[in-house]
Amino acid sequence: MPVTLRPARDEDATTVATIWESAWRDGHLGHVTDELVAIRTPQDFRSRAAAMTARTTVASADGAIAGFVTIAGDEVEQVFVDAASRGSGIADALLTAAEQQIAAAGHQTAWLAVVAGNTRARRFYERRGWTDDGAFDYAAQRPGGTINVPCHRYVKRVAADSGRVAAGG
Ligand SMILES: CC(C)(COP(=O)(O)OP(=O)(O)OC[C@H]1O[C@@H](n2cnc3c(N)ncnc32)[C@H](O)[C@@H]1OP(=O)(O)O)[C@@H](O)C(=O)NCCC(=O)NCCS
Repeated sequence: MPVTLRPARDEDATTVATIWESAWRDGHLGHVTDELVAIRTPQDFRSRAAAMTARTTVASADGAIAGFVTIAGDEVEQVFVDAASRGSGIADALLTAAEQQIAAAGHQTAWLAVVAGNTRARRFYERRGWTDDGAFDYAAQRPGGTINVPCHRYVKRVAADSGRVAAGG
């Protein structure tokens, strides 16, 4: 089934939050601290989803939103797909869109953070040409500030001129 991508609208925030909360738990429970899990309440997902609408792209395969990607500068900040739509190509379409948006904004390289134990996501990124740039503490949003989450930083060159030799060089 063809995947349709479009910019998120304000009225999508509740759907995005619902997919995000469930998929976040799939990728993170058992791999992050109890403190972070306690922070990630339904209200936390709803308020953060509403705040990031302008940076979010949603994907549908049968008319209903099944996943989304959010960028922040040169970062792929979120990529989450509903459990029923994993392995369908929706995630590939979303990540490709994010890479293209980051490149179009003039960045050479994109990056993202993934927790070490999220093996499905790590394999997904690696298959899409992303490389592990090592462990670091990611400053994840929390109400009133941030919380450090041990992660791996993944990077990928996204510039449209990637691999081209500069004129005269
Ligand atoms: C990460 C995510 C967007 C990837 O999308 P996807 O449609 O699942 O991607 P794929 O089907 O290509 O799966 C990626 C890899 O995991 C493998 N995989 C499938 N089921 C798996 C499972 N239960 N556990 C571990 N790996 C699994 C796939 O075989 C594939 O590996 P391969 O290419 O070596 O065969 C999606 O799984 C998701 O939303 N996960 C939960 C949220 C999350 O973790 N988001 C990322 C936060 S950084």
